[in-house]
Amino acid sequence: MTSLRSLAVEILVRVERDRAFAAPLLAAREGSLAPRDRPLLRTIVRSVLRNRSLLDHVLSRSLDRPLEGLDPDVRNALRAGAAQLLLLDRIPAHAAVGETVEAIRERSARAAGLVNAVLRRLTREGKPPRAILPPGTDPIVRLALETSHPEWLVRRWIADLGSEAAGAALRDDDADAPVDVLLDPRGEDVDSVLERLRGEGLEGTPSPWAPLALTLSSPAAGSHPAIASGRLAVVDVAAQAMCELVEAADVVVDLAAAPGGKTRTLLARSKARRVVALERNPTRSRRLAAGLLASGRRNEVLVVRADSSRPPLPRGAFRSVLLDAPCSGTGTLRKNPEIRWRLSPDDLPGLARVQCALLHAALDVCAPGGSVVYVTCSLEPEENEGVVAAVLSARADAAVERPGGDGLPAPLRSALRPDGFFRVPPGPSNDGFSAVVLRKGGESR
Ligand SMILES: C[S@@+](CC[C@H](N)C(=O)[O-])C[C@H]1O[C@@H](n2cnc3c(N)ncnc32)[C@H](O)[C@@H]1O
Repeated sequence: MTSLRSLAVEILVRVERDRAFAAPLLAAREGSLAPRDRPLLRTIVRSVLRNRSLLDHVLSRSLDRPLEGLDPDVRNALRAGAAQLLLLDRIPAHAAVGETVEAIRERSARAAGLVNAVLRRLTREGKPPRAILPPGTDPIVRLALETSHPEWLVRRWIADLGSEAAGAALRDDDADAPVDVLLDPRGEDVDSVLERLRGEGLEGTPSPWAPLALTLSSPAAGSHPAIASGRLAVVDVAAQAMCELVEAADVVVDLAAAPGGKTRTLLARSKARRVVALERNPTRSRRLAAGLLASGRRNEVLVVRADSSRPPLPRGAFRSVLLDAPCSGTGTLRKNPEIRWRLSPDDLPGLARVQCALLHAALDVCAPGGSVVYVTCSLEPEENEGVVAAVLSARADAAVERPGGDGLPAPLRSALRPDGFFRVPPGPSNDGFSAVVLRKGGESR
């Protein structure tokens, strides 16, 4: 049987080497462990991914060769061991060292010697203070290391959000995200839905972010049958809030729809009688259709597998269009901490090119007088303001609309900037997003 530490190292190697995402790997592989061991596996993997540069800094001081030069197995065993010793209080040092060394011994006896020596040294030295850099260190370098984010991202967030909000967002990326669900009352009142869920053992708190958002009291509730079956959708509270910007219409087009959180929110909020949901990826498109089926909403959605930069839809025909564009995901580092270590600023222009093509297509299918809501879960201006500026400079038929705040949930209202963009930094209760409403010029409004 695979040991917990061995599985942790295997997952960390796949994340680093193959650019895999940890969450689906954990979901797929943790079944090979006894149920009592699964939370610790998740904790070790997330702790390494969230604290990687801090752990690497500490480990480098105990190594006589560069950490980057070691085998990925060895490097990640060291990180997993250091995380247990330095960050996870409840694991006794002898178990953290002994079991991590055994996990790597299965692969190489020589490597086990190195891991043993380094982890024992860390045990002897005790926990390093969080502030481990000398006085006088550049505050951005310090913040980047202490919060384990790449320096380039820290610089950008300080420039865009200001020091205080950026510091809070960086720290909030380390919080375990609660599970938020979308209530879908269909004519029932929300209190009755909450009552029924309580009867099924699902307790939660209504969120100020969105009228149908419920934050569950226990993250373990994520495996409740109502959620596992797809009847109840897990949708981040800020993702639900973005749908408040979408104009109600008989038919709403959702140009990047899978896995379907926003499609389902639009229907639950009666923003549309029907949604045309486009998705290019076949696996994700099947997942979208399956989720809609499980929710009982399948008949209200036309799922189309297509490239939305050339959508098979009539031009100028839809009054309300949502484009939740593929993006860098820098607003979702709580849930996907590995993004910090694989994204580079050089990736942003390529993402922006794709986003520009999709936004042109969204404006093309939008009817004169209608609106396009452009959303990303990125905080980077290149993927948001930059995309919109580039698209609008190439066409004269659309403009940014600054929505009146009335009727919008308070946290969303306070994210509205003078230029009409909403910038929501990640917080303890929400993912980070950016959004803007574009109005298509013309008569039929
Ligand atoms: C940010 S996700 C959408 C999340 C979704 N709106 C939700 O709330 O669940 C972006 C989606 O766009 C899809 N996508 C990327 N490029 C696309 C394209 N050219 N045409 C259609 N879909 C695309 C991706 O596969 C991904 O599922």
